[in-house]
Amino acid sequence: MICIGILLTVNIWGIKHSAKCPIDRIVRIVNEEHMKILSIVSSMRKNGNTQRLISLFEEELISIAKLQHEALEIERIFLGTVELKMCIGCRVCFDKGEELCPLKDELLTIRKKLNEADGVILASPVYVEDVNGIMKNWIDRMAFNCHRPAFFDKTAMVISTSGIGSTNHALKTMRTALMTWGAYVDGMHKFSTGALMEKEEILNRYHNRIKRIAKKFFVNIKKEKVSKPKLYSLIAFKVQQKYFQKRTNERNTVDYIYWNEKGWLKPSCIYYKEIKTNWLQVKLARLFGNIFAVFFI
Ligand SMILES: Cc1cc2nc3c(=O)[nH]c(=O)nc-3n(C[C@H](O)[C@H](O)[C@H](O)COP(=O)(O)O)c2cc1C
Repeated sequence: MICIGILLTVNIWGIKHSAKCPIDRIVRIVNEEHMKILSIVSSMRKNGNTQRLISLFEEELISIAKLQHEALEIERIFLGTVELKMCIGCRVCFDKGEELCPLKDELLTIRKKLNEADGVILASPVYVEDVNGIMKNWIDRMAFNCHRPAFFDKTAMVISTSGIGSTNHALKTMRTALMTWGAYVDGMHKFSTGALMEKEEILNRYHNRIKRIAKKFFVNIKKEKVSKPKLYSLIAFKVQQKYFQKRTNERNTVDYIYWNEKGWLKPSCIYYKEIKTNWLQVKLARLFGNIFAVFFI
């Protein structure tokens, strides 16, 4: 990543029908090659636990960028205030393409912002041991990406806040979605924050942890860790590849055309993109992928 100065921008997006409202901390725009991080937050509470925590993460990422003289732009989307209708399950996005979704709202604008990001943070409060409905609806609306993964150049992490401590269920919901869309998930982090925790208390309890996680995230985006997918990502690719290779009678479908055009149906193709891996991982992915394909396809 080329860096010739510092760009530290925080945009908060999603105030009533997608009004874009840049806030403070805009320092300097220097070049097009800066790192971009997109935080997607599903809590409706504007100054709630999840938002407070994400602000601390963003501040930490900005400090790291400053120290390293890196250009960084962070944008935050509040899913609850962006116009995003409930998925009606019509399957148009699967069968004909997401552009034809009959729900005319901000979905594709968010997807565009995701496309442009290097790093993605998904954050949700835990509601009854899972993500809240707003996050789940967004994940459902993005389901076409499970068929046509497009985020294989993104490093992501997922964060949840909960009242008293919860299982990893909510985190796994977000991680599974991101992984299925092709992203590299760098970590899952849950924070127990009670009904409403003051910023100072969050700092007292979690500052060191936030610093550690933010640093790892930043470093891994820079290192393009995404080029070294984990074994289970290679296996997941193999299973999907097998699925589409078998679907030769569906050659006119949007999914098949997408996979074919990307060159992912060639037996020699091992992942969505060029990766750094070793032959053992490739062999294992092929072996397990073929076995899982027998059960799942
Ligand atoms: C409808 C609802 C359901 C909740 N369910 C759980 C739960 O299952 N487990 C838990 O530990 N906390 C639960 N909580 C507490 C929230 O997860 C917690 O307070 C969270 O930090 C709130 O985040 P926010 O302030 O960003 O909205 C629930 C809260 C609400 C409003």
